Amino acid sequence: MPSLTKDRLETFDVTEARKQFPALSTPQIYFDNAGGSQVLKPVIDSITSYLSGSNVQLGASYKVAREATRRYEEGYEAAARFVGAEMDEIVIGPSTTLLFANLAQTLHFPPDSELILSTLDHEANISPWIRLAHSQNLTIKWWSPSPSPSPSSSPTTTNPTLTTTSLLPLLSPLTALVACTHTSNILGTIHDIRALATSIHRTAPTALFCVDGVALAPHRAVNVKALGVDFYAWSWYKVYGPHLATLYASPRARSRMASLGHFFHRGEDLRTKIGLAAGSYELIGGVGEVVRWFEGGEGGKEGVFEGIARHEEGLQGVLLGYLNGRGDVRVLGEREPGRGARVPVVSFVVEGRGSRGVVEKIEERSAYACRWGHFYSKRLVDDVLGIEGRQGEEGEGVGKWEGEGVVRVSMVFYNTEEEIRGFVKVLDEVLAEQP
Ligand SMILES: Cc1ncc(COP(=O)(O)O)c(C=O)c1O
Repeated sequence: MPSLTKDRLETFDVTEARKQFPALSTPQIYFDNAGGSQVLKPVIDSITSYLSGSNVQLGASYKVAREATRRYEEGYEAAARFVGAEMDEIVIGPSTTLLFANLAQTLHFPPDSELILSTLDHEANISPWIRLAHSQNLTIKWWSPSPSPSPSSSPTTTNPTLTTTSLLPLLSPLTALVACTHTSNILGTIHDIRALATSIHRTAPTALFCVDGVALAPHRAVNVKALGVDFYAWSWYKVYGPHLATLYASPRARSRMASLGHFFHRGEDLRTKIGLAAGSYELIGGVGEVVRWFEGGEGGKEGVFEGIARHEEGLQGVLLGYLNGRGDVRVLGEREPGRGARVPVVSFVVEGRGSRGVVEKIEERSAYACRWGHFYSKRLVDDVLGIEGRQGEEGEGVGKWEGEGVVRVSMVFYNTEEEIRGFVKVLDEVLAEQP
């Protein structure tokens, strides 16, 4: 197991950061953060105070309504600032899944258009586009690291990555949309979205580029303008905030979107087009607190994320060092811990062992919360990684026909070296036992 050197750890004050999260004072150790992170105290306080003192309808002229509107607008402004966007370019909604689904309803592409969809994605950025293709009779081209043209190819790799090399042969003048993930919620590998955007805009200038930023946003500063994307979404409940999500749309993309709003709502901003009054007001105020927490740290948002990336590199290095050293473990995604290549979402399968059994054994003997499954990236798990699972039983909470997928250990900046070293010890004991 590699030792974590002092200087790598000292770049981020994890003890100080943990004080901001009330949930971390309980015995549970949170390694399911890619599912959802714990919430910053200022967010919790903001929600409480909104509901206690300004829970009225927005837009009215009386005093409390003005205060409610101010808090709501500030939340919106902060959400836009978080990714370097303008307020009229974003919409806040309950989930990324819903925002992408609403988005797809607003687009209409010419006949014969082609949609390029990645097989590495969470289904949230796939199924709306499939529905759109079916309803408008468009062609779907699957973008998979495998040479096969269909997503049901045989397993090819443990570290599938989306690259310009695999994208270029799919692009054509008929390409209307390319959809892919910034970071897979299973593999943790970071894709070079800037390079992909450049290729798309050069080869298919009218094509829109839709990126799922959900698994990256808790770990890295994002600037949507610098990335050159048309759509970008992330979920605040994985970024230390409330259960909300945000979608960005570039000006050119927005001009091509129809509106789902009422006929008398004529605005061209994204909120009017697909907001549908769906972002709960008390939570939107809380989003502002997440952003202010990042901005208030040393070096501002960029400085804080830089410190986080260094700290997380150390954490994932401990786990990957252990897993890479075992002959019976298949690490999925980038095997090296470099922060340029991956975020601390580490998934693996153990030869001869079901992922569910491994997680249950961990839970039996410790307070570690990690998880097994496909995490809605089912095409990736089944078709690209080719992971077999046993048939699930009814009532297991994951559906009758699920396999067991992978074991996923997903860390964030508030996890400590001590926690991950303790996890490795528990995992080592579990793997030493007979299944
Ligand atoms: C990579 C990725 N994309 C999209 C989603 C969907 O996000 P939401 O739950 O906000 O719909 C998730 C949720 O787990 C995710 O991990």
